[in-house]
Amino acid sequence: MTAKPTDHAAPAVGRAVYLETFGCQMNVLDTQLVRGQLQSLGYRFVDDWKQADVVLYNTCSVREHAEQKVWSRVGEVGLWKKSDRPDLVLGVIGCMAERDGKDMVRRHPQVDLLCGPGELDKVPMLIDNAVKTALPDRGGIKAVGVALQGNTHRRSTTLAAAEEDQLERIDLSRSFVADDQSSAGRSAYVRITRGCNKFCTYCVVPFTRGREVHRPPNHIVEECRKLVDAGVREITLLGQTVNHYHFDSAAAVTINDVVQPQVGTVIAPNKGTGGPSPTFNDTTTSFAQLLARIHDEVPDLQRLRYVTNFPRDFGNDILEVMRDRPRICRYLHIPVQSGSNRLLKLMNRGYTVEEYFDLVDRVRDYLPDAELATDIICGFPTETEEDHQATAELLRRCRFKNSFIFKYSPRPGTVAMDRFEDDVPNDVKKRRNNELLAIQADASTAVHQAYLGKTVRVFVESLSARSRKQSNGGMGGVELGWEKPEQVTQLAGRTDGDLIVCFDADPSLIGEIAEVRIERTSPLTLFGRLVNSPVATTTT
Ligand code: 5AD
Ligand code: SF4
Repeated sequence: MTAKPTDHAAPAVGRAVYLETFGCQMNVLDTQLVRGQLQSLGYRFVDDWKQADVVLYNTCSVREHAEQKVWSRVGEVGLWKKSDRPDLVLGVIGCMAERDGKDMVRRHPQVDLLCGPGELDKVPMLIDNAVKTALPDRGGIKAVGVALQGNTHRRSTTLAAAEEDQLERIDLSRSFVADDQSSAGRSAYVRITRGCNKFCTYCVVPFTRGREVHRPPNHIVEECRKLVDAGVREITLLGQTVNHYHFDSAAAVTINDVVQPQVGTVIAPNKGTGGPSPTFNDTTTSFAQLLARIHDEVPDLQRLRYVTNFPRDFGNDILEVMRDRPRICRYLHIPVQSGSNRLLKLMNRGYTVEEYFDLVDRVRDYLPDAELATDIICGFPTETEEDHQATAELLRRCRFKNSFIFKYSPRPGTVAMDRFEDDVPNDVKKRRNNELLAIQADASTAVHQAYLGKTVRVFVESLSARSRKQSNGGMGGVELGWEKPEQVTQLAGRTDGDLIVCFDADPSLIGEIAEVRIERTSPLTLFGRLVNSPVATTTT
């Protein structure tokens, strides 16, 4: 089934690519990097898959629902390819390719290439091979290009480092173009950690993205500096468990002059410092130190954010660095998953509800203006009404600005699917989900109302949804004979604490930081009036 790499690239210039992303921010960054690679080779991008020569889906396996969407998209494009466009290249990249690729090709033989999230540097080569094997002189031989990692999280450190070489080069070689995809190119993601070692019993990520690997701090700082030099104002550091970031320079491996990412070691909690804080030797850069370095060594960066955190091993050192550095956003996403200690144990989360409360209290002590968000899974196997009430109580107590609440979905290959029956009926999951959503809506309303009358700093991201609808003649405007407004003026952005703000202003503010006075609130949005723009934070 595997196609061998070919030596010579077929001409890519002008070939049209449709690339759609499903799932998390990690996938958004992966898509940007793949896009950058293809653009540098001469591919162009289109918004309509029917206009494309290459259709790529960057997929997510975390929940079944996300996978189902991809299955139906691939089915639709596959049928069209069969009937109208046999030369079309159809590719599935990301976590579904890694987890479910064989089944994908069996059910949809029109798929030409599969590429896992740890192999994305091979996408151009795979497209190239697919184009060549589709040529008539190959006698119609069908070969599927495959680049998957398999179980590399179990391999040796040295081998793993060598395998990271190419992938590190994609992050290093990203194009630093300010007018790229998001927020007029002023906001960018930077990966600090790949993969995950936690093996929460419900989760596919350790299987699809492999073991935890940390990028060298100098590469990360340099990437941030280049992005800021290219006009980026806001950087979001990405990793599945960013607070576990650590890199030991004494143990670093260099291949082809590139310092290699490092496989994460188990970190030793340091008891007795007012919170579990990992202990490292002198040559190791911790997450707190990395944050401080980026903040201090890239002084023109306006906003530094990071997602996502693991509730265990979240030391006060991180909170101290945030407290003392105003350009690090007052926003923490810390998934708790459940308010029941019994379920946290079954989920293999490694902390108790009491430890989570201790972390929330420490955050509020150090950063009184910080906003918190979380993830919850409801209907995990064996979840009782009592467990559910414990989660409800946690939501009431923690005052999250928002919670991402998911119904448990069994994922093939995970311990939870193998060992526990999915025994909470769907209607019960649904009811519990709705109850948690209602509690969170009350909490969100209260969080937002507390901003009435305050002035907040807003990173302006885009036209608001309302403005976009109007400018597209949406809501039936054209049919009803409405005129499009001359100038669409409601803008949307986010505060330091990640709250959404809408306000009227000139669209030239997109990509800048503005001060907005809040005059009205809803459960999910602040509405205000522009008082000052743009503003720069004094560098400390
Ligand atoms: N079922 C439901 N939700 C899940 N998540 C991860 N795996 C599953 C699953 N099998 C949720 C967790 C995680 C978020 C990214 O997705 O809450 O934090
Ligand atoms: Fe999945 Fe747990 Fe790792 Fe998060 S910490 S990615 S939930 S295994």
